Amino acid sequence: PMSPARQLRTILMGPPGAGKGTQAPRIRDEFCVCHLATGDMLRDQIKAQTPLGMEAKKIIDAGGLVSDDIMVGMIKNQIENNAECKNGFVLDGFPRTIPQAQKLDGMLSSRGEKLDSVVQLLIDDQLLISRITGRLIHTPSGRTYHKLFSPPKKPGLDDVTGEPLTQRSDDNVETLRKRLTTFHSQTGPVAEYYKSKGLWHGIDAAQSPSVVWDNLRAVFVGKK
Ligand code: AP5
Repeated sequence: PMSPARQLRTILMGPPGAGKGTQAPRIRDEFCVCHLATGDMLRDQIKAQTPLGMEAKKIIDAGGLVSDDIMVGMIKNQIENNAECKNGFVLDGFPRTIPQAQKLDGMLSSRGEKLDSVVQLLIDDQLLISRITGRLIHTPSGRTYHKLFSPPKKPGLDDVTGEPLTQRSDDNVETLRKRLTTFHSQTGPVAEYYKSKGLWHGIDAAQSPSVVWDNLRAVFVGKK
């Protein structure tokens, strides 16, 4: 048998529009780990019109945070049961609060596992408005485009399937301002938490996606 692949357990942090959803699939593909995006999980619930989804939609559109217990339960379920997570994971959008970070620690230590790194995509708030309001999404695949920065080949259509692209209901200026406020007040302390554990790395996310990726990769292969 082949020797087991190297494991990677990492967290990608950053404000809305920093590029988490752009970079996380690259990490997943390169390191053969699962990509767990709590925002995507909630949007799946909204799409399926579950009671949780209906409750979450109100919170998401107001720029707030869904309860810690619900979010921790979702991540726990994936880490324990998703076969794609056997080599590790990249967490995108979780943990967003100190209680979520503490519960993740408890969950991993009870499995005899630990985090390798926490990488924060650093970028000024004012650069995020144009990124978020120009974002286009192909929901079935999770592919993201930008009207100006990475336009699809045909306007409004996915390059691979030709299906229509959509915009998220929380991707407007007003909701974005609330999401940013929530990020700084609730998720800012999470960065401090990981700094105190010596796990935190910061990357300049105002550069092109390929430069951001080169710098991310350097963290994971231990060159930074
Ligand atoms: P979530 O889906 O996690 O949203 P978010 O954190 O606001 O992040 P985004 O997906 O908006 O941004 P991104 O960093 O992925 O940016 P992207 O790569 O697409 O959460 C949504 C909501 O769910 C939350 O507000 C909350 O209510 C709830 N929720 C989720 N998790 C929760 C939790 N753990 N606890 C409680 N509540 C939770 O990039 C954006 C655009 O920029 C794209 O168009 C892209 O093409 C472009 N772009 C990317 N990189 C670059 C670059 N380098 N240069 C130029 N353009 C770029």
